[in-house]
Amino acid sequence: MEKEKALQALSRELMEAKLPLLESNLVFGEGNINCQVLFIGEAPGQTENQLKRPFVGRAGKLLDELIKSVGWKREDVYITNIVKRRPPENRDPLPEEIEAYKPYLSRQIEIINPKIIATLGRFSMNYFLPFAKITRDQGKTFEVNGRVIFPLFHPAAGLRNPNMLKELKESFKKLPDVVIEATNLKANAKKEAADAAEPIQRANRPQDSLF
Ligand code: URA
Repeated sequence: MEKEKALQALSRELMEAKLPLLESNLVFGEGNINCQVLFIGEAPGQTENQLKRPFVGRAGKLLDELIKSVGWKREDVYITNIVKRRPPENRDPLPEEIEAYKPYLSRQIEIINPKIIATLGRFSMNYFLPFAKITRDQGKTFEVNGRVIFPLFHPAAGLRNPNMLKELKESFKKLPDVVIEATNLKANAKKEAADAAEPIQRANRPQDSLF
């Protein structure tokens, strides 16, 4: 409930903010706010702008199929974009548009707090991994600030290029294992933190006995 309220507040704030691309509708994002995997694309297209929902056009249909191919449902994950309004003529978002929307994406991620962020295309990948190259690094896992980043080709690239589609499908198949790995990573981090805290607790014991 807290998360839902925080996301609603963020969406209201975005609606009122003086940001680029105000001539288009706000497409905030949707899905399971307690998801393990958050998908982040570039910016809404024409259909997304009309329906005010992310990934509901042709690229979205492919994303839905990919999600189903690993036994999940669209409702299991959360889907959003870096830039939350449609650039005209579906052009790439400009660097200043990405910069303007970045702080809102950061807050959205903090609220949802997913284990894994699967980036779709190079724009969202470079938000987390500025030096990564999509052809070299898609399908690999990275850890950034305790979160697993899993770059994927953009589904629209998969629709244009059969080789990219093949790689996208293969990388997508790794996602369930990436979730398991990320769960273990978190469990280990918790255990390490608990182990590290133990001597401190012991050191506190004599003082505790004063009361
Ligand atoms: N492409 C994107 O990057 N995002 C969408 O929501 C739709 C298409």
